[in-house]
Amino acid sequence: MNILVTGGAGFIGSHLAAKLLAEHDVTIVDMLHPYYSPERKRAHLEEVVGSGACRWIEADLRDEEGLRLIMEAGRFDAVYHLAAVPGVTPSIADPHGYVDHNIHATINVLRTAGETGVNHVLFASSSSVYGEREGEAIREEAANGRVISPYAASKVAGESLCHTYKYLYGYRMTILRFFTVYGPWGRPDMAIAKFIRSAMNGRAIEVFGEGSARDYTYIDDIADGLKAALNSPEDVGVYNLGCGRPVEMNRLLDGLQSYFPDLQIVRKPERVGDVKMTWADTSKAEALLGYRPKVSIEEGLARSIAWARSRPEHV
Ligand SMILES: NC(=O)c1ccc[n+]([C@@H]2O[C@H](COP(=O)([O-])OP(=O)(O)OC[C@H]3O[C@@H](n4cnc5c(N)ncnc54)[C@H](O)[C@@H]3O)[C@@H](O)[C@H]2O)c1
Repeated sequence: MNILVTGGAGFIGSHLAAKLLAEHDVTIVDMLHPYYSPERKRAHLEEVVGSGACRWIEADLRDEEGLRLIMEAGRFDAVYHLAAVPGVTPSIADPHGYVDHNIHATINVLRTAGETGVNHVLFASSSSVYGEREGEAIREEAANGRVISPYAASKVAGESLCHTYKYLYGYRMTILRFFTVYGPWGRPDMAIAKFIRSAMNGRAIEVFGEGSARDYTYIDDIADGLKAALNSPEDVGVYNLGCGRPVEMNRLLDGLQSYFPDLQIVRKPERVGDVKMTWADTSKAEALLGYRPKVSIEEGLARSIAWARSRPEHV
């Protein structure tokens, strides 16, 4: 298959492209947004592009004409739309940036996919669309739009536009909701990556709020789930891709302390926009996609720390 991965220079996109390359022709489009170091993205991309038949185009999806030329030339069978500005807290200071990159650019991708005969669009959404929920695993139908950050609202809008453009153009459409993804090349603004960086540099780590828990999902499991979604049996499919086992902050800190016994922890107040807990019910993805998250938090932490120690310049 001929596949386009938007945001393919990012954390999840680069891993996905590497996985797809074994069986498909892959083109990556990314503008190297400075949300975090473009040099780091280039370094990860070099590993991926060097490993097989992968094309890489530097382009901004907000430019619809430029995107149309890429899509017309590429004649893609499927498009994974992963490009976005991530992050909950920064979206509160810059909501318009999130509208531009996460909504405006998504319309361009969905429309040009329809105009150029793409058969299947797969959209990267987020557990944040569930808003503030505690105490139970969340199923896909629980999303009700009552979200608590502009980032989450941009993902709700993106999902809604996917339904609209699926209706207008008739392509198969699959929405994947990721739950806190981590692993080698993990986004440097996210908790596990930040904690490892601080610990390796002998700095204290900052922990916001008390009693939070996250359904941390290892990157290889997410990439496997994304690949499996190419064969989604549903014409319109929405799936949680999580680990299904929330990890309390204190357990994560214990795990880190076993590698970094001198770890210093500074407690800070809860941050506005952060939900207290995420917990995926992954039974739908398991039943329909054959999705099986395999990597425990202990194993995932070990692999993440081993990667960080081998590539300290990128941590
Ligand atoms: N990492 C997670 O835990 C997580 C959780 C839920 C959802 N997601 C979603 O998964 C997707 C990938 O996330 P990630 O963690 O790999 O983030 P990332 O920031 O590493 O990757 C996103 C990529 O999109 C690119 N991009 C942004 N705006 C663009 C534009 N206008 N044109 C072209 N490229 C653009 C960026 O340069 C970046 O490389 C995003 O849609 C994100 O919202 C991630």
